[in-house]
Amino acid sequence: MIVITGAGGQLGSRIVEQLLSLAPAEQVGVSVRDVAQAKRFADRGVRVRRGDFLEPETLSHAFEGADQVLIVSASIRGAAAVPANRAAIDAARSAGARRILYTSHQAASHHSLFAPQLTHAATEDHLAAAGVPFTSLRNGFYATTLGFYLGAAVETGRLVVPEDGPFSWTAHDDLAGVAAAALASEGLFDGATPPLTAPDMLDFAAVAEQASEVAGRMIEHVVVGDDDWKASAVAAGMPEAAAEFTLGMFRAARRGEFAVTDPTLEKVLGRPAIPARQVIEDLLAPR
Ligand SMILES: NC(=O)c1ccc[n+]([C@@H]2O[C@H](COP(=O)([O-])OP(=O)(O)OC[C@H]3O[C@@H](n4cnc5c(N)ncnc54)[C@H](OP(=O)(O)O)[C@@H]3O)[C@@H](O)[C@H]2O)c1
Repeated sequence: MIVITGAGGQLGSRIVEQLLSLAPAEQVGVSVRDVAQAKRFADRGVRVRRGDFLEPETLSHAFEGADQVLIVSASIRGAAAVPANRAAIDAARSAGARRILYTSHQAASHHSLFAPQLTHAATEDHLAAAGVPFTSLRNGFYATTLGFYLGAAVETGRLVVPEDGPFSWTAHDDLAGVAAAALASEGLFDGATPPLTAPDMLDFAAVAEQASEVAGRMIEHVVVGDDDWKASAVAAGMPEAAAEFTLGMFRAARRGEFAVTDPTLEKVLGRPAIPARQVIEDLLAPR
């Protein structure tokens, strides 16, 4: 059986969906914090069990009988993140999985300026030391992240951000497709994958240009100093820790941490990647 965690989330649900076109439902299981969120999968014959990385005792039942476990990195910030991911790896090994997969990031590094990359690097270390064959899927930067910025930019005509750099914007559907392929074809990857990215990198200046074309009105890219950006984000209601977290992303980008592309994703999918432009169009489409 293949067990996938986080099937209630955007990436995990897409991975399950795509895997169901490659493997029979009775060979697929999901581990979710809220089983009601996976009802549509249960209805199709997928085994649905409750699993929460912060309650490791739930994971032995959730992972029972798994040959492969794909751990979707939990959206936990701060000091609890690494122990949570480690608990999932330990539980997968204890359940007897002969292969463990983890959704890492193209920029995973102990030296990153963006906090999640430190979590990914520490998790990858634990995975490599677990003594079980593993695959660390080094995903590109989610293109949907732009959704946090584009709404206000279209409203005001200004995309006000700190200095940045190129990003490896990649669509969830493409990353899910590669993850599903990695589960279905066990020999496809071994260890850390090459960066799994779309072929185009855009910085925020290029994003503003593309968003202007899509929205049909000028969106000016305005660069502000880190302290000024943080002060206005906090004044607008963002918690200080969240503002600092976000600044880390811009600092890492300007150092070139996300300035990576690689053909592996398109090769595995056997088709062109979804361009960032398409994701911007989807994000700005009238609802
Ligand atoms: N590559 C990138 O650029 C990028 C950007 C942002 C985030 N990420 C990482 O990618 C992951 C998936 O992204 P997404 O878009 O699918 O995020 P999402 O829709 O916000 O989903 C959050 C995910 O975190 C899981 N999670 C949270 N707390 C958990 C816990 N205590 N135990 C087990 N799982 C827990 C959720 O599991 P349930 O379904 O069980 O609730 C869900 O799969 C994120 O969690 C984050 O680690 C990557």
